[in-house]
Amino acid sequence: PADQPTLRIGFSQCSTTGPWRQAVLAGMERELSFHPEVKLRMLDAHDNSQAQQQQIRELVRGGIDLLIVSPYEAGPVTPAVEEAYAQGIPVVLLDRRITSQQYTAYVGGDNLEVGQTAARYTARLLKEQGSIIELLGARGSSATAGRHEGFTQGLKAFPGLRVAALVKGEWNPTTLQPKLLAALKAHPEVSLIFSHNDNMGRAAAEVVRQLGRTSTVRIIGVDGLDLNLVRQRVLSASLLYSPAGQDAIRTALKILHKQPYQRENKLSTVVIDSTNVLMMMQQSDKILAQQQDIELQQGLLHRLQATYASQQTVLNGLLAA
Ligand code: FRU
Repeated sequence: PADQPTLRIGFSQCSTTGPWRQAVLAGMERELSFHPEVKLRMLDAHDNSQAQQQQIRELVRGGIDLLIVSPYEAGPVTPAVEEAYAQGIPVVLLDRRITSQQYTAYVGGDNLEVGQTAARYTARLLKEQGSIIELLGARGSSATAGRHEGFTQGLKAFPGLRVAALVKGEWNPTTLQPKLLAALKAHPEVSLIFSHNDNMGRAAAEVVRQLGRTSTVRIIGVDGLDLNLVRQRVLSASLLYSPAGQDAIRTALKILHKQPYQRENKLSTVVIDSTNVLMMMQQSDKILAQQQDIELQQGLLHRLQATYASQQTVLNGLLAA
């Protein structure tokens, strides 16, 4: 309605590459389609913390009522977020954190839980016996720290499992391949790779294939968005990590409308493997179909509103005559 003031949300996204980041945005846009009074401005930092700091400052200078940030690296991005927060702009952290407490709410997955679940699943898969490579995300990302910590903690319950090498994958399929190749050659006994996301897991599978070790090295990943990877057994399993775009907008709106909200919103994970992947795929198809219905109905509604508005104009003209 025209009497509602426009609310401006700035979104500083560390990257827009890959299905997971695209899903974040799609979730936000879906939720925002119910709130025409909200304007979203997103800037993409292309996995660069310096650029991200500048973009956060640019969003603030441009005027925003709330800031959503998904920081590339926690430490380097923190000062710009703190500046925004100090100016009274509410800050919602999405998926990755900063190093300080100067934020209003966090919305995203529970990375500690992701790591712990990955460890338990690994133990089941390897019957509590074996050698592992952990393929890490970018060093400064809070998701990397959480997943690594959870995995390390989780493995403590299984003395027969050993991490042979940590490979710095940096969320980057190209960077990781030569490093992983070297690690796999140095550790022929390795029978599982825990990859901090599915995108790197897919790149890891290529390396494993090159070495002719597909039948002995299993790969588990994180995100659970590209379910074909599990269905085609490229990955033995993927741990769902909800993109949380929709949830971030919901929390943002509560904050903006001065409604009660939760500060910590951790979405939990679930293992997707050959036993449930088909069901998960059916579920997501259903959700997709429902979303398309919603979009159709919204289109209809907008057309009705436009017709109504033009009839009002005609009516007003007649009344004035
Ligand atoms: C995408 C991504 C996801 C991952 C998340 C962690 O940039 O790497 O694959 O789950 O970020 O922050």
